[in-house]
Amino acid sequence: MCGIVGYVGRGEPSGRPLDVVMEGLGRLEYRGYDSAGVALVTPQGLQWAKRAGKLTNLSQALERRPPAPATAAIGHTRWATHGAPTDVNAHPHISQDGKLALIHNGIIENFNTLKEELLADGVSFLSETDTEVAAHLLSRAFDRLGDLTEAMRAVTRELEGAFTLLAVHADMPRTVVGARRNSPLVVGLGDGENFLGSDVAAFISHTRSALELGQDQIVTITPDSVEVIDGDGVPVEVKAFTVDWDASAAVKGGFRTFMEKEIHEQPKAVADTLLGRTTVGGHLTLDELRIDEVVLRSVDKIVVIACGTAAYAGHVAKYAIEHWCRIPVEVELAHEFRYRDPVVNEKTLVVAISQSGETMDTIMAVRHAREQGSKVLAVVNTHGSTIPRESDAVLYTHAGPEVAVASTKAFLAQITACYLLGLYLAQLRGNMYQDEIGRILAELALMPERIQRVVDNEEQVRKLAHSMKDVTSVLFLGRHVGFPVAMEGALKLKELAYIHAEGFAAGELKHGPIALVDVGTPVFVIVPSPRGRDHLHAKVVSNIQEVRARGARTLVIAEDGDAAVEPFADVVIRVPQTPTLLAPLVTVVPLQIFACELAAAKGLDVDQPRNLAKSVTVE
Ligand code: G6P
Repeated sequence: MCGIVGYVGRGEPSGRPLDVVMEGLGRLEYRGYDSAGVALVTPQGLQWAKRAGKLTNLSQALERRPPAPATAAIGHTRWATHGAPTDVNAHPHISQDGKLALIHNGIIENFNTLKEELLADGVSFLSETDTEVAAHLLSRAFDRLGDLTEAMRAVTRELEGAFTLLAVHADMPRTVVGARRNSPLVVGLGDGENFLGSDVAAFISHTRSALELGQDQIVTITPDSVEVIDGDGVPVEVKAFTVDWDASAAVKGGFRTFMEKEIHEQPKAVADTLLGRTTVGGHLTLDELRIDEVVLRSVDKIVVIACGTAAYAGHVAKYAIEHWCRIPVEVELAHEFRYRDPVVNEKTLVVAISQSGETMDTIMAVRHAREQGSKVLAVVNTHGSTIPRESDAVLYTHAGPEVAVASTKAFLAQITACYLLGLYLAQLRGNMYQDEIGRILAELALMPERIQRVVDNEEQVRKLAHSMKDVTSVLFLGRHVGFPVAMEGALKLKELAYIHAEGFAAGELKHGPIALVDVGTPVFVIVPSPRGRDHLHAKVVSNIQEVRARGARTLVIAEDGDAAVEPFADVVIRVPQTPTLLAPLVTVVPLQIFACELAAAKGLDVDQPRNLAKSVTVE
């Protein structure tokens, strides 16, 4: 977690370094928002400011006491791991001579040992953070070596754990040095200026031209150069890429919150994820999937690994891929997978789903799977992030930047990408006739318009949310692909509105959860298409009756024209008719709107819920 920005520019010292860094922090605040700070290299020496609380606290402090014009700057927005979110624990951390400033994302695991050594050496500490050791070590190394890059190289060799570090030194006014191990850092290339950021959103309004950094690399930016070396000091070539995200996608654009905006962007997220992936003849072409077709044909098991919302996308993928490809699919939370000695081998295809591409639990699971010989396919939204870099192949979801902490449009894009993967495997392995695949692709092409219709119906759901702003518990029921939708609906409500919410498989209800149902308990039920198979629909309609008989208030999400639900529903929310396997793309949308609106009605911060971070880069 934590967001990091660095900037260095040519010309006279100015206000630009501070402006760029503060703007970047605003775009990265989703990564952590319990405190923030900046350090500037000015002709008067190093200046810094840091404040507990959201970025506005820091902005106000800077307005009250504006710093001097600068040549370089670094900035940090924090999600606390070691030490409470106070002014003192906020980054940057400053060396004892007041000349060096350091910011950090990650956890330095051996900080206690290093701290004891420094204490024994007479260094005094101001904060409770793990980061401060690195600031003191770096300053001492700089005094010894006279160069910030060399000092960074020496210090990173001593550190264990995960980190992105950025540092500036008053004696090197046109230099920012960064290093990364297991935490993200990308470079933005400007004209007479260069940028560093936890992700490209940090500098998206200044440049589209970026560089990916690899593991254990050290980068030195000046206004006119970017140099990258490995831990041995050897220069390394790094991959350049162009950011195709639209800068306007990272601003609210008239919506009250990013989440509301991102819910409205879902038709486009799905359309963009489908774009360019079929030939005129209806054949699927996933050219970017660089895994050998022979290997894909021999796969005998798929394991999806992911966390949070992405894991629910994986659950939807399981139903689709097993049905279309007849390959067994397991879905596992990445942190559980990693530590339970899973049975995977070279015949297993591991699919890692992640919006950010930086979730540490998922990264560790990817590494573990590859060590066992499995091929790993990443389904990721963020270019230049770690998971695609460490995987054998990547299928990008084209949702654009997702800023709100709780995921919405990325979820729909992940599900869409998984459908494409399933159909592609079915095509490759000959599990389905081409015209069947073509029919499903044609249905998929209709999904953006269907999602739009659900979004257009938001008023009904918003009113419902307002009328329910005092509820303390909500249950969600679904069967088949409706089950992960129920879990995602409950997760959204927990994340945003801090309400007890649980998603159940509707069939499991009678085995325990039904005891929770009391008079007036709100229960959302996701009803499958009555045109579907296996009497699923009839079973779910029975489940509605079961909870209603016990006094529940039934809030039913059902297809247009499904009259069977009406006698048992207190409220019916309609979604367009959609084939069963594709239905999550429409049925989850009212649940997102509901959670978003209920949180807003309670006066909560929809985009930045308490205790959460969008990108969880610690295990
Ligand atoms: C965090 C976020 C969730 C997200 C999960 C996985 O917990 O708060 O919204 O679903 O991480 O993130 P990823 O970036 O890997 O999809």
